[in-house]
Amino acid sequence: MKYAIVTGGARGLGLGIVNALLKEKVVERIAVVDKNLAPAPAALADKVEGFTADVTDEKQVHAAIEEITARFGANPDVLCNNAGGGERAWFESGRQTVWDSVETWRRYVDLNLNSVYIVTREVAPRMREGGAICNTSSIAGMLPSPVLAAYAAAKAGVISYTKTLALQLGPNKIRVNAVAPGLIYTKVWENLGAALGGGDANARATFEATVRNLVPLGREQTADDIGRSVAWLCSDKAINVTGQVIAVDGGIVLGPPTLRRE
Ligand SMILES: NC(=O)c1ccc[n+]([C@@H]2O[C@H](COP(=O)([O-])OP(=O)(O)OC[C@H]3O[C@@H](n4cnc5c(N)ncnc54)[C@H](O)[C@@H]3O)[C@@H](O)[C@H]2O)c1
Repeated sequence: MKYAIVTGGARGLGLGIVNALLKEKVVERIAVVDKNLAPAPAALADKVEGFTADVTDEKQVHAAIEEITARFGANPDVLCNNAGGGERAWFESGRQTVWDSVETWRRYVDLNLNSVYIVTREVAPRMREGGAICNTSSIAGMLPSPVLAAYAAAKAGVISYTKTLALQLGPNKIRVNAVAPGLIYTKVWENLGAALGGGDANARATFEATVRNLVPLGREQTADDIGRSVAWLCSDKAINVTGQVIAVDGGIVLGPPTLRRE
């Protein structure tokens, strides 16, 4: 029985990844590792099991992976390092100024980059040949912006580490890729939209304005969009794809057009 480990799979993009991995039959069962577990949707309940751990804490991660491998089998087939983002207080603290506290910078990097190392170090040596890893980076790791410096640096780090890992694990026939999601209205954007827009009431409007300004295809992205791309990267359809980053962003990383027709 093939199984996947998905971090941050309890909601948002992680739940989209869980759904797609099962729908596309990439794996038959999924172990979700999350700090705040929620019951899996009823249709998935017999295929998905939750394990509580903070992905920034190596002891908690070790205990969760030991438990998962004892219950699901010694050799995981797929790992999706998806947990990440930021907290409302971190977004608020960086709203007015370039300079965040060192503590906030560290927490962004811990959650978004160090966690990928901590979980992969625990899982990859146990994976079987033919396995696949997909890391959730962000368009923030590909394009500079004047806000979210630490988040962007950490997500760029995820891209770099994805490529290094692809080389390191290639001889074991394990593929490693990343997705760079664009703009998806999850809890992260509820908080970020409120911080950038000056309150909860403005969160959705701030998000929609950002979509209008940045997305060449003119529409927001969804957790299902990200899930389908991750499922493809983790499936045998992508058997010769490794070390790649796929932006699922409606074209944002193309950047603003330089020449326009009048
Ligand atoms: N929403 C977007 O527009 C967007 C864009 C680009 C990248 N991303 C990335 O996508 C990933 C998922 O984000 P989302 O938008 O679904 O956010 P979300 O907040 O809805 O979901 C994040 C999940 O991760 C879990 N989590 C958070 N910290 C954790 C920790 N320390 N240990 C274990 N689990 C933890 C949460 O409990 C939650 O279930 C993140 O890596 C985020 O940076 C999101």
